[in-house]
Amino acid sequence: MIRVLGIHASPRKYGNSFKLLWIALRAAENEGAETEIIHLYDYNIGPCFACYSDYYLNCRYPKERKECPLSGVDGFGEVAEKILASDAVVFSTPVYWFMASGVLKNLFDRMTSLENMIYHVGRSLLDGKVAGVIAVGEEAGAAMALSWALLTLVNMGFHIPAWGTTYYHGKGDVLEDKQAVSDAYNLGLNIVRATKRLRGSNEAPWYRFIGEDEYESLVEEARKVAEKNKAEQRRERPWLK
Ligand SMILES: Cc1cc2nc3c(=O)[nH]c(=O)nc-3n(C[C@H](O)[C@H](O)[C@H](O)COP(=O)(O)O)c2cc1C
Repeated sequence: MIRVLGIHASPRKYGNSFKLLWIALRAAENEGAETEIIHLYDYNIGPCFACYSDYYLNCRYPKERKECPLSGVDGFGEVAEKILASDAVVFSTPVYWFMASGVLKNLFDRMTSLENMIYHVGRSLLDGKVAGVIAVGEEAGAAMALSWALLTLVNMGFHIPAWGTTYYHGKGDVLEDKQAVSDAYNLGLNIVRATKRLRGSNEAPWYRFIGEDEYESLVEEARKVAEKNKAEQRRERPWLK
């Protein structure tokens, strides 16, 4: 069974970001997945304390959450457990001042503790999961919110499938916009399709630290190629000093 979690980041449980998330998750169900939608505003997730910035090993996600100063003080642990139990996650946010909403930013910052486990156990706890992102606004900024979210998710170890984003701008009911509904539906389908195709290829982490010898030889080779290119280009561009 494929589990898809929908994370909704608007205080309005009936708004456009919810509607598109619902469409995406209905598509995921039609493709055979089990789904759940949670509303981030129900979890009161506070800002990250940036323990990582003092020392990178400070930041971790133990189940008991003993090391985290925010342990038990807010709803992050509950949301984190749901993310960890899912194969794929769809994030849906309104645009608030050309960005995602603050609750989603808080969640992403706190998810550093899941990603940072790469330094503790050799793998981001998010490595190999699949994600999609939906952003809705009235006038402008959905593309900026999406860019931020996608960049962050990819750097945490998520895969984003083809057509893995949906955006909408407008003051009206998004369900009257066939393009947006169709985009959200395809996002939901492709989240599940990508998860199915990735099954069996997630055993090894998608990121591995390169060894010292490997680093030395890669760098040596890259330098040689760059030097060769430089010599050739210098011949073609004799005006260069
Ligand atoms: C604090 C705040 C900031 C907003 N900033 C933007 C913005 O920068 N660009 C935009 O297009 N819409 C902006 N909006 C409008 C919302 O994105 C819009 O109403 C959206 O549809 C709300 O999503 P929802 O229906 O899922 O709650 C803002 C709304 C609020 C409350």
